[in-house]
Amino acid sequence: MAQITQTRTRSQQLFERAQQSLVEGVNSPSRGKATYSPGPIFLERGSGSHIWDADGNQYVDFMMSFGALIHGHAHPKLVSVVSEGMAEGSHFAAASIAEVEAAERFRRMVPSSEVVRFTNTGSEATMLALRLARAHTGRTKFLKFEGHYHGWYDPFLLNAHGHPPAQLGPVENPSRIPDSQGIPSATFDDVVLAPWNNIAILERIMQTHGRELAAVITEPIMANMGCIPPREGYLQKLRDLTRTYGALLILDEVVTGFRYAPGGCQEYYEIQPDLSTFGKALGAGFPVGAVAGPRSILDRMRWSENMVLHYGTFNGHRLTMKVVAANLDLLARDDTYRNLQDIGNAAIVGLREVFRRHKVKAIVQGFGPMFQVYFTERDAIHDYRDYCTYVDTTRYSRFVHRLLERGIYMTPSNGLHWIISTAHTEADVAVLIEAADQACADLT
Ligand SMILES: Cc1ncc(COP(=O)(O)O)c(C=O)c1O
Repeated sequence: MAQITQTRTRSQQLFERAQQSLVEGVNSPSRGKATYSPGPIFLERGSGSHIWDADGNQYVDFMMSFGALIHGHAHPKLVSVVSEGMAEGSHFAAASIAEVEAAERFRRMVPSSEVVRFTNTGSEATMLALRLARAHTGRTKFLKFEGHYHGWYDPFLLNAHGHPPAQLGPVENPSRIPDSQGIPSATFDDVVLAPWNNIAILERIMQTHGRELAAVITEPIMANMGCIPPREGYLQKLRDLTRTYGALLILDEVVTGFRYAPGGCQEYYEIQPDLSTFGKALGAGFPVGAVAGPRSILDRMRWSENMVLHYGTFNGHRLTMKVVAANLDLLARDDTYRNLQDIGNAAIVGLREVFRRHKVKAIVQGFGPMFQVYFTERDAIHDYRDYCTYVDTTRYSRFVHRLLERGIYMTPSNGLHWIISTAHTEADVAVLIEAADQACADLT
């Protein structure tokens, strides 16, 4: 049964208080009032697929910490690993067996990882991957795609947000729109910008710039404009093109890693990247990232006068490494990925049926453990420009706010995506479908 949530008086009081000490009352702008109306819901507790807010309202969580909680909330195995590990001391910033055990499991699961280096976030991982690529190739420029987000490192912050179509410029030569103030414009001189999922344009751009590029960085499934899978054969062509021009291919699997297959999208789509980056699901709720690849590239971090510098007090954080190892053991169990696919696909099919019944023009895009709803007249959204031009993000926000009133937790931001964890059940999907059915009934 979809549950009607009661008042959020306590959340509103906490929001007032939070704003006294925190900018917008939160620690990341997407969590605040710009996204949630009348303000953020303060969450207090989670167990499995369920969460409770400060007013005692219960929700099925389909946001799952932006995909970090691959096993849902407070998985008993992870709770015991953390409690026992903490009692021994959280972190030594020194060599530990915990990081070795995490790395061994990581290498077993990710085919391209001859070696791995752990960071603390996905942003640190992509930043490090770019530095390694530049050192390895001796080139400075790199190519990123419109609408791809790779964390908040300066040079990646070009066209990672949606904008009105009139601002986007010609598709062969997109307008360059910085996502943040405070970044010297010269930073972007080293960035070549291209539309994604269009191999003909990419071939032309590579003809002009390919030989200057240290790397091309891409998300394998575009996950920051909702959920946009690559066109058939696109990633393979991209792989071939980067080889032709001697640029490294950095596959940013921060969202997709450990989600679609043990080895992420590189396994799912059979792509061999030069470097790949991870985060989110790797830590099952703990802050961690990783760069994986061959020794010939990662060994550039070995101590020497000419090394690629990567320091960090919290790198290989002992408690986190214990969580990573336990998380990867849980993921390596039989049927994990089939179950994630089955539950996710049931949710997708159910939502499509709800929209069909209510004659609501909406599509559900993606497959298995990650998908997004787009209110659109189109049959599919293939890239950033489609997203900016054809998707009614305001309507989506209204839809999600209705779901929030009916015990479904999700961010009203259309740029994110629905997440299925190993904790979700068919019963959770049934609750979602019923809530969506009610939400559609009075959707304007
Ligand atoms: C594809 C991608 N790369 C990198 C990042 C940055 O990861 P983090 O938020 O852990 O710094 C994100 C975050 O959402 C992401 O979606």
